[in-house]
Amino acid sequence: MTAQPTPDSAPLLSVEHLTASYRTGDGVLPAVRDVTFDLHAGEVLALVGESAAGKTTVAQAILGLLPQQATITGDVRYRGTSLQSMSPEDLRRVRGEEIAIIFQNALASLTPTLSIGEQLAEVYRAHRDMDEATARSAALGVLRTVLPDPERIADAFPFQLSGGMAQRVMIAMATALKPSVIIADEPTSSLDPAVRVETLDRLEVLRNEGAGVLLITHDFGVVARLADRVAVLYAGAVVETGDVRTIFRQPRHPYTFGLLQSLPSIARRGQLVPMRGQPPDLATLGAECPFLPRCSKAVSRCRVEAAPPLTEADTGVPGHLAACYNPMTVDRSQLT
Ligand SMILES: Nc1ncnc2c1ncn2[C@@H]1O[C@H](COP(=O)(O)OP(=O)(O)O)[C@@H](O)[C@H]1O
Ligand code: SF4
Ligand SMILES: [Mg+2]
Repeated sequence: MTAQPTPDSAPLLSVEHLTASYRTGDGVLPAVRDVTFDLHAGEVLALVGESAAGKTTVAQAILGLLPQQATITGDVRYRGTSLQSMSPEDLRRVRGEEIAIIFQNALASLTPTLSIGEQLAEVYRAHRDMDEATARSAALGVLRTVLPDPERIADAFPFQLSGGMAQRVMIAMATALKPSVIIADEPTSSLDPAVRVETLDRLEVLRNEGAGVLLITHDFGVVARLADRVAVLYAGAVVETGDVRTIFRQPRHPYTFGLLQSLPSIARRGQLVPMRGQPPDLATLGAECPFLPRCSKAVSRCRVEAAPPLTEADTGVPGHLAACYNPMTVDRSQLT
């Protein structure tokens, strides 16, 4: 694990008060609600939450990939400059070269009619102005970072690849131009264990080389393995954030605690307790704390007041914030 970034080091990526809603037949779905976070060079920030928490919407909003029926407000800054204020050319360059995304379903994001080598070479030709031979050799070079036999894979078409191979190719493609920011949206969820480990290892190498990695996952096991900092998303809002060690030892939001205690590989200390209840229906979300129906710590305030804002946690650890009127006081390292 790398050292924590110093608080005054300028972030690579800043997401500020990001809100995203989808217009649907059932009304407006507030999928992302006032999300703010920074990502620094050389760190992995994990965005963690159950399915439908809004994780993919955050990733797509950063990259400007949201569908037309989505409305977004707030700002995304790359090295201090708002993406909204950039010229279309600069925006295309930043999104093509500086901020890359690795999707969950690698095969679906490859072009079926081109060989892997051609697709990779095309990335270099489009962004680096290389001739065909140089682009081919650059493509083989980046494939070699993820595969032992790049020549064979370069001549293959996507349908000839296993899921694990496709994922490695996707990583090579996303990192070909050495982006400073890598967004990995559930990069390991459809992979077998060996490829999972390799994928996480590769992300770790990229982090150690200085990239900022936004790791989107529902799996706290993946967080434990790779993350430096964590932001826990519930019903589209960040309910707790902090460095990974503090979040694991002293979670303050009951949802974070519930997630940790429900995972067999992590619960180890204390009793294994499945998370009860379901995430709320976003279409009918009220003003109160969205976790209220599932919360065993609720107090009367939670029923009458608007959802609590993120505030400094009692741990006093810099950057540890939780949005809760009656936070946990547990130290999980003391649980038996
Ligand atoms: N294109 C869309 N149109 C309408 N609703 C959507 C769309 N994409 C996502 N949603 C809804 O937004 C919410 C957040 O989805 P998503 O960002 O995919 O969550 P996650 O990645 O955490 O599973 C969910 O309720 C989902 O059904
Ligand atoms: S604010 Fe209240 S209902 Fe919400 S998580 Fe905290 S204790 Fe539970
Ligand atoms: Mg998703």
